Amino acid sequence: MGDRIRITDVAPRDGLQAESVPVPVERKADLVRAIQRTGVAEVEVSSFVSAKWIPQLGDAPELFARLAVDKPEGVLYSALVPNERGLDAALTANREAQESHGTERLIDKVSVFTASSETFAQKNTNASIAETIERFRPIVPRAHEQGIRVRGYISCVVRCPFEGDIPPTAVAEVASRLLEIGVDEIDLGDTIGAGTPDSIGGVVLEVIDRLAGRPTNDFGDPSLTLHLHDTFGHAAECVRVALELGVRSFDASSGGLGGCPYASTPDHRAPGNIAMSTLVQTIESMGFTAGIDQVAQREADRIAAELIR
Ligand code: HMG
Ligand code: MG
Repeated sequence: MGDRIRITDVAPRDGLQAESVPVPVERKADLVRAIQRTGVAEVEVSSFVSAKWIPQLGDAPELFARLAVDKPEGVLYSALVPNERGLDAALTANREAQESHGTERLIDKVSVFTASSETFAQKNTNASIAETIERFRPIVPRAHEQGIRVRGYISCVVRCPFEGDIPPTAVAEVASRLLEIGVDEIDLGDTIGAGTPDSIGGVVLEVIDRLAGRPTNDFGDPSLTLHLHDTFGHAAECVRVALELGVRSFDASSGGLGGCPYASTPDHRAPGNIAMSTLVQTIESMGFTAGIDQVAQREADRIAAELIR
């Protein structure tokens, strides 16, 4: 058996964030519980962002309060935070879980997010890339003080829907700035699924260079993660090339949730994040270990599909 690959299931966050029909919080909790039974390393549960911007995830505090009741050992929970206000909300969730249920740490990781395209950063966070980095600067030490890890997402690492192709050096520049402020992990987001083996290979190599020989971080996890959307069906090929180049951490979503609602038709939902089943199959076909229980995964896929029916 080859190396064990670290996997994060982002279905409850990325998979649901664009759904216009509200999903009841208890059903989201069911999805998280089903996902954690698969053996995945991390579940990206929700986001502490403005509910005006992302209404579907406005229930993040309530969802985390439900999960605090029976968080199992061995799985990490993470949440997106765009600013210190988001971090405050995550710390409050942790404090309340500790007080009510003795949970040592409910949220183990916060994820800050920016882009390699100025237009996308503005549209997604109402800030320039430099402004987002300044928002993140105080988040990192405050999170670390509580033993919370910090992931730094970069969107549009291959192409931006507004600016077109993005050079790998521009992505690597943003990665360097995130590393300078102390993030533990860089997560490269191919937001619109434009990646091909060539373009993903190019950007992965450039960012590996900036990691300066540090394949793992202080928490012993890979310093680089790849976050693929499967819009045009190229995600599996991109995983293969990334594995060959040394990437050992990937995001995926149960049921392949996360398709853009505007690209879907009544009969066909647009593909979203790379489906967990596709990622696992690709990892294992390359001789690596995914460590995902297939029966539990089928159940998580079923629950995910029911949520958006
Ligand atoms: P803004 O409007 O510039 O900021 O938004 P603001 O400070 O003026 O705040 C606006 C309102 O939001 C105010 O409320 C604030 O209190 C509130 P009002 O006074 O109008 O009632 N607010 C907050 N509420 C809850 N939690 C917070 C928070 N901060 C402010 N943390 C802001 C700036 C960043 C807040 C906004 O743009 C935002 O929330 N953006 C989130 C966008 C988002 O979540 N996008 C999706 C995630 S990224 C992604 O999907 C890509 C990824 O998957 C990788 C890939 O595929 O590429 C990760
Ligand atoms: Mg995404």
